[in-house]
Amino acid sequence: MHTTSKLPNTGTSIFAVMSKLANEVGAINLAQGFPDFSPSTTLMRLVNEAMVEGHNQYAPMPGVPALRRCLSDKISRLYNVTCDPDSEITITAGATQALYTAITALIKKGDEILVIEPCYDSYLPAIELNGGIPVFVKLRAPRFEIDWDEIESKLSSRTSMFIMNTPHNPTGALWTASDMAQLSRLAEKYDFIVLSDEVYEHLVFEGANHETALKYPALKKRSLVCFSFGKVFHNTGWKMGYCVAPEKLTAEFRKVHQFLVFSCNTPVQHALANFLDDPNEYLSLNNFFENKRDVLLESLVDSKFDIIPTAGTYFQLLNYSSISDLDDMSFCERLAREHGVAAIPISYFYHDRHDDRFIRLCFAKSDQTLREAGKLLSNL
Ligand SMILES: Cc1ncc(COP(=O)(O)O)c(C=O)c1O
Repeated sequence: MHTTSKLPNTGTSIFAVMSKLANEVGAINLAQGFPDFSPSTTLMRLVNEAMVEGHNQYAPMPGVPALRRCLSDKISRLYNVTCDPDSEITITAGATQALYTAITALIKKGDEILVIEPCYDSYLPAIELNGGIPVFVKLRAPRFEIDWDEIESKLSSRTSMFIMNTPHNPTGALWTASDMAQLSRLAEKYDFIVLSDEVYEHLVFEGANHETALKYPALKKRSLVCFSFGKVFHNTGWKMGYCVAPEKLTAEFRKVHQFLVFSCNTPVQHALANFLDDPNEYLSLNNFFENKRDVLLESLVDSKFDIIPTAGTYFQLLNYSSISDLDDMSFCERLAREHGVAAIPISYFYHDRHDDRFIRLCFAKSDQTLREAGKLLSNL
């Protein structure tokens, strides 16, 4: 049988590769972005209750109405903007499905899509499968700021979509109000759709604001904003998320959504609707993860890595230029095999494997695990 790959350049994801290596060599796995602690017991109880109460069949295609209403209230409370729960919010099987659906629904063969690198690994295959042409701009290390002049030089009437991500995986950088103003200006000038990946919405530190595309009128009217329950409520395995977009974009989004998954996990949606009644469940997350970041940073004070404390997400970058000349993949292999800690090489977030000698650690782990890993890393 002859098959031609539609994704000839795509292999096994670096997260799976590094997690497998961590298992093989018994290393502490700070590679993949998932917590090693349980979701709230309240939330788990609510899921169980929803099942027992009989919420076990297909949910409505756009999502359970009570959950969409809760999300609309939450958005209005946090960002002072209105989103119609019926026509502007769709519940998805994680943010990955929301991102894929948005790209599939809204780009056409030959469209240019602006992608800022380093970037999360699901964007490029989705663009490629849909015949889009990624146009890359790199953030400026070591603080991973955005070069708006370079971005403007890459935009044209061919640009149909701009993908943004804040708080940013893998760097932890946050978009500022000034970045949002720049994007608003360019979006009006070049008239593209914005796909805003905001899965770490509640993980911003030191009192910073999360700058959502929903807060900026010039962006809100042209944005699909993707969120993840898994990332913020410690249940990545439940694969639940949502997409917020104006009615016209949501209509196109749902045309694809209904044939990709039709609808998402019913009992979990009912449980989340009840859980979100208490804003503390998400408002306390910033402190919770900031404390974890600080546990990791304290355990690394005597290490030789160059570290700029991350501003958001549950990822911390370490620069190892003063420790080794190895490329970042070889360095991560050595780290796992010889020092017992698995990390992610940042070059895997660039299409051209650009390597500035950074590795990414996930600190959504127990304090004890973080301290142990810090001790091992300090031996280098
Ligand atoms: C930036 C970013 N977007 C999207 C996702 C996927 O989220 P979900 O697990 O809800 O599909 C991740 C997961 O790591 C991520 O880091």
